[in-house]
Amino acid sequence: MSESKNDTKAPPSPKSTKSPGGHLAYQRLHANMTTLKLGVAESIVDSYLESSAAEGKSTVEALDYLLDQEVKSRNSASIETRLKLSGFPVRKTLEDFDLSAQPSIDTKVVQELRTLRFVHNTENVIFLGPPGVGKTHLAIALGMEAIRAGFMAYYLSAAQLVEDLKKAAQQDRLDVKLRSLGRYPLLILDEIGYLPMDRVGAHLFFRLVSHRYEKGSTIFTSNKPYSEWGEVLGDTVIAAATLDRILHHSTTVNIKGESYRLMSRRKAGLPTPSPVIPVEA
Ligand SMILES: Nc1ncnc2c1ncn2[C@@H]1O[C@H](COP(=O)(O)OP(=O)(O)OP(=O)(O)O)[C@@H](O)[C@H]1O
Ligand SMILES: [Mg+2]
Repeated sequence: MSESKNDTKAPPSPKSTKSPGGHLAYQRLHANMTTLKLGVAESIVDSYLESSAAEGKSTVEALDYLLDQEVKSRNSASIETRLKLSGFPVRKTLEDFDLSAQPSIDTKVVQELRTLRFVHNTENVIFLGPPGVGKTHLAIALGMEAIRAGFMAYYLSAAQLVEDLKKAAQQDRLDVKLRSLGRYPLLILDEIGYLPMDRVGAHLFFRLVSHRYEKGSTIFTSNKPYSEWGEVLGDTVIAAATLDRILHHSTTVNIKGESYRLMSRRKAGLPTPSPVIPVEA
C-alpha cells in the first residue's frame, strides 16, 4: 500500500536529503504525510521543495504553500460532494444570471441574498413569477453559493416533496423524513403551483413548513401569487397557516417579465410560441 510505496521512494536532490539523516527524514516525511492523509501535499512536495529551494523561498513559505494546496483541494472536494448530494437538476450560478434581462428584480435584493445572511438567520426566500423568468435559476444559484460557503443544501420540486412525504407516511417514517429534511440549513422547494396538491399533500407540506419554521432556510419558487395558494393547496385554512409561517421571516422576489426562454428564441430569430398555459393535473 502507500507505506511500501514510501519505503521505496527515491529522495530528490534538495540539500536537506543530502545531510546526515536526510534520507531517513525524507522517508518519514512521506510516510507521515500519508498517515495524516495529506495526499495532495505529498504528491507535490518533492517537486515543490526542489523549485522552492532553487527560488530561495523560506521554509515558512514552502510549508504555507503545501498546506494551502491541501486545504484548497479538500474544500473543492467537499464542495463537489455537497453539490452531488444537493439534488440540483442543473447547475446555475449568479454570475450566469443576466439581471439586466429582468428589470423587475432589485439588484440590491440579489446582492443581499448573495451574502447568505438569510441562511445564517434561518429566513426564507420566495421567487414568484410566470414561466421562464429565472426563478429556478436564482434558487439554484443561491443554493450553490450556500454550498460554496460550507452549507448543505437540498433541492426538491414541490411534487417530489409531496410524493416523498406521502411515501414516508405510508411507511410510518414521516417523523424520520421530516427530521432529515429539517436538518438542511437550506432547502429549495421548486415549482409550487404547477401541480395542485390534494388534501393529504397540502397537510404534509404544512407539516414540513412547520417543522422547518425558524430552524432552517427554505427557498420557494412559484408561478402563483400568494392569493392563489389556497387553490394550490386545495384548502384556504392550511394555505393561510402555511403562508403565515413561510412569510414571517422572509424576502419575496416578485419577477414580472418575459420568459428568458422566449427572449432567447426571439433573439435567435426562432419562432416564439404564444405563452404556455400551465397544465393542471
Ligand atoms: N436573467 C437570466 N439570465 C440568464 N439566464 C436566464 C435568466 N432568466 C432565465 N434564464 C435561463 O432561462 C431558463 C429558464 O429559467 P428558469 O428555469 O429559472 O425559469 P423559471 O422561472 O424557473 O420557469 P418555470 O416557472 O417554467 O420553472 C434557464 O435555462 C435559465 O438559466
Ligand atoms: Mg422553474
